[in-house]
Amino acid sequence: MVVLGIETSCDETAASLVRRNPDGSGDILSNVVLSQLDEHAPFGGVVPEIAARAHVEALDGIISQALARAETTFDDVDAIAATSGPGLIGGLIVGLMTGKAIAAATGKPLYAVNHLEGHALTARLTDGIRDPYLLLLVSGGHTQLLVVAGVGDYRRLATTIDDALGEAFDKTAKLLGLPYPGGPEVERRAASGNPLRFDLPRPMRGEERLDFSFSGLKTAVRQQAAKHARLSEEDVADLCASFQKAVTDTLEERLSRGIERFRADFPEIDTPALVVAGGVAANRAIRTALASLTDRHGFRLIAAPIELCTDNAAMIAWAGAERMALGLPADTADVAPRSRWPLDESAEVRIGSGRRGAKA
Ligand code: KG4
Ligand code: ZN
Repeated sequence: MVVLGIETSCDETAASLVRRNPDGSGDILSNVVLSQLDEHAPFGGVVPEIAARAHVEALDGIISQALARAETTFDDVDAIAATSGPGLIGGLIVGLMTGKAIAAATGKPLYAVNHLEGHALTARLTDGIRDPYLLLLVSGGHTQLLVVAGVGDYRRLATTIDDALGEAFDKTAKLLGLPYPGGPEVERRAASGNPLRFDLPRPMRGEERLDFSFSGLKTAVRQQAAKHARLSEEDVADLCASFQKAVTDTLEERLSRGIERFRADFPEIDTPALVVAGGVAANRAIRTALASLTDRHGFRLIAAPIELCTDNAAMIAWAGAERMALGLPADTADVAPRSRWPLDESAEVRIGSGRRGAKA
């Protein structure tokens, strides 16, 4: 089964062809991603109107490229999968309408995919996991810990009560005068900094519930920075290193509780997996911290290659393929995009949960 995936929920215009084999394994036949980073960078963040217009201009060409690279045509495609939420509504409309048009013209079924489900199921594509697993989704718009018990079965264990982790990296970068997107820049500066120089908080430490909080940490960086009339390169590096250390300490403490919870809920799984996805998963200090955490707890860490951690359409195609393989019904032509669409609809609404707006 071959599925064409379309992703336009934020600032990447992406299309991909993915094959799902009868044994449940998958192959990515093509994975084309056009980043709009340069168009948004001057504004220090994603501008929804610019994003929507850029998707309109680029999407048909990106789909043609994805078909060409996979050496395939619409005739060989069994289904279309398009992101229909959560995200920026303008971009979602562009991608979903394009998906509907292709489905109508070719007579193929259309699957309207939750972008977060794409992130959640990627490990089943890359690593063929079938057991339930723990998923840490850390991006510019989300910080969630979920149990992925199967296709369509997601239970949120924790979410951020204020800023997403990527957002905290981006805001920290901004207040230190570093360019957008801040995450990679903070990581780069941190490499030469002293993580012990500044005393920053470890938010939520010791709290019984599993949730995350990052806005206080960013504020603490601001207060420390304000004590200096002018920040030297060394000050910036030390602040970045201290911030990143506070982040990794916090993730380790919060996740060790999540891991224990998962172990208690699924005692039959021998070596459970912690999967990390989302743009922040590109951070090497975070990957290293998670690797030692999982080692200590007898879990294995699965971190997808960076291009499958950040937004892409292969994960959308795969989510569509998984649904099709299960015989789940396709969506009809009147399916509507949803700017807010939590994965676990039964979980209490919080800021970080399937939220409206930028970056899922
Ligand atoms: O997954 P992504 O490309 O878009 C979504 O949010 O869906 O993630 C972007 C976020 C941004 O906040 C960016 O600063 C952060 O991921 N990020 C990083 C790193 N690379 C990207 N944060 C920390 N360290 C990095 N190396
Ligand atoms: Zn995403």
